[in-house]
Amino acid sequence: MKLTVIGTGYVGLVSGACLADVGNEVLCLDLDAAKIRILEEGGIPIHEPGLLEIVRRNVGAGRLAFTTDIERAARHGEIQFIAVGTPPGEDGSADLQYVLAAARNIGRHMDGYRVIVDKSTVPVGTGDKVRAAVAEELAARGAELPFSVVSNPEFLKEGAAVDDFMRPDRIVVGADDERAIELMRRLYAPFQRKHEKLVVMDVHSAELTKYAANAMLATRISFMNELANLAEALGADIELVRQGIGSDPRIGWHFLYSGCGYGGSCFPKDVKALIRTAAEHGWALHVLSAVEAANEAQKHVLVDKIVRRFGEDLSGRRFALWGLAFKPDTDDMREAPSRVLIEELFRRGASVAAYDPVAMREAERIFGDDPRLSYAGRPKSALEGADALVIVTEWKEFRSPDFDAIRSRLRQPVIFDGRNLYEPARVRDAGIEYFGIGRA
Ligand SMILES: NC(=O)c1ccc[n+]([C@@H]2O[C@H](COP(=O)([O-])OP(=O)(O)OC[C@H]3O[C@@H](n4cnc5c(N)ncnc54)[C@H](O)[C@@H]3O)[C@@H](O)[C@H]2O)c1
Repeated sequence: MKLTVIGTGYVGLVSGACLADVGNEVLCLDLDAAKIRILEEGGIPIHEPGLLEIVRRNVGAGRLAFTTDIERAARHGEIQFIAVGTPPGEDGSADLQYVLAAARNIGRHMDGYRVIVDKSTVPVGTGDKVRAAVAEELAARGAELPFSVVSNPEFLKEGAAVDDFMRPDRIVVGADDERAIELMRRLYAPFQRKHEKLVVMDVHSAELTKYAANAMLATRISFMNELANLAEALGADIELVRQGIGSDPRIGWHFLYSGCGYGGSCFPKDVKALIRTAAEHGWALHVLSAVEAANEAQKHVLVDKIVRRFGEDLSGRRFALWGLAFKPDTDDMREAPSRVLIEELFRRGASVAAYDPVAMREAERIFGDDPRLSYAGRPKSALEGADALVIVTEWKEFRSPDFDAIRSRLRQPVIFDGRNLYEPARVRDAGIEYFGIGRA
C-alpha cells in the first residue's frame, strides 16, 4: 500500500519505518527541513533503539523516503497518517494547530480517495474538526473527492518504540465507515498474525481510549509516589509494599515504581488535556487533578532531600547527576524531572556535573552553555569532587556500580537515588549515606 506519514518525530518516524518494513511504500513528510536532511543523509534525528537499522534497510529497498514537499505527500498515500505534535496550550488543552494544518494540506492537494488517520494524541472531537478542515479545503477548490477520517491512537513507548509497533498489544481503530475499516484491517494484518488485535470502535471512543490509557498509568505512578512519601514518614519500605501488592493479579506489576516523578512528552500533557476536556464539558476529574499535583510535587522530592541534608544554601556545592532523559533508552528531555532538579540546584547556588548516555546533546540544547552545568564523558568522571551523587534516570548502566569507586571520588559519600536502584543496606555497607524514595 502507498502510505504518507505526516510528522517525522518519535511516532511518525517509527510508524513510517515499521510500516515500510512489512512491504508498504511510505513517504514521510516533515516541515522541519533539518530533520529531513539528517534522514536523507542516512541518519536519524532521535535516539531510539533499533530504529536506524530499519530506516536504512527500507530506504535501501526503496520503500521509505522523506520529503518536505506537502503536495507530493498528499498525492502519495491513499492512507495519510497525521503524527504531528499536540503540545499543551497555555490552558493545558492540546494545541491542535499542527494537526489541523496537516489536515488542511491534505485537503488542498489530495487527488483521489484518502483515509486520513489521526495517530497524534488528540482530544475527543478532533476527528470531526479534521473532517471539517479537509471538507473546507476541498470546497474551496471546488473538488468533490471522497475521504474518511479514522482515529488510530499510538501506544508505543519511547525506548522500546520499534518493538511496541511491531508487536502491539492492541490496535485501536476508531472509524465510522466500512471502506476505511477494511483498509485499516489490511494495513495492520502483518502485525496481528497470531491473533486479532484490532479493536474497532467509533472515533470519539478511540480518541478517549488513548487519554484513558495514559491517565491510568500516570495515576498508578502518582499513587505509588504519594504512598512512598507516606512510607518514609511511617518507617515503612515502599519497595516491600510494591512487592506485596504487585503479586495481586488484580493489581499487577506494571507502573508501580515510585521515583522522582513522571515526565516525557505524553503523560504530563495528556493528563492536563483530559482535565481540560472534562472542564470544557462541565466535569471535574478530581482523581486526575490530584495525580497531576502529586507529580509536580514529586519532581521536587530529591531537591527537598538534598536541602534537608546540606541546608537551603547550596552555593559552592557541586552535584553529580546521573541521568538527564525522562526515562532510559531515549534522549527525550521533555518535562523531565532532571530539568526541575537542575533548575532548583542552580537557584540555590549549586552547580551540576551531569552524565547521560544519550541525552547530553539535548541538555546542551536546553541549557545552552550555562557554566553551572558541565558534562562528563563517563559516569565516574561526573563524581570527581562532587558533594553527592543524584540519580534521576534508571539507565541500566547505573544499576550495578562500583560503590567503592563512588565513595572515593565524592567529597562526601552521599547518594540520592531518585529511582530506587539500590538496596539501602548494600550502599550503607559500602560506607555511603543513602537516600531513596519511600525507603525508611
Ligand atoms: N512520543 C511518544 O512516545 C508518543 C507515544 C504515543 C503518542 N504520541 C503522540 O504522537 C504525537 C506526536 O508525538 P511525537 O513525540 O512523535 O512528536 P515530535 O515532536 O517528536 O514530532 C512531531 C513532528 O511533526 C512535525 N510537524 C509539525 N507540523 C507539521 C506539519 N503540518 N506537516 C508536517 N510535519 C509537521 C514537526 O516538525 C515534528 O518533527 C503527539 O500527539 C503525541 O502525544 C507520542
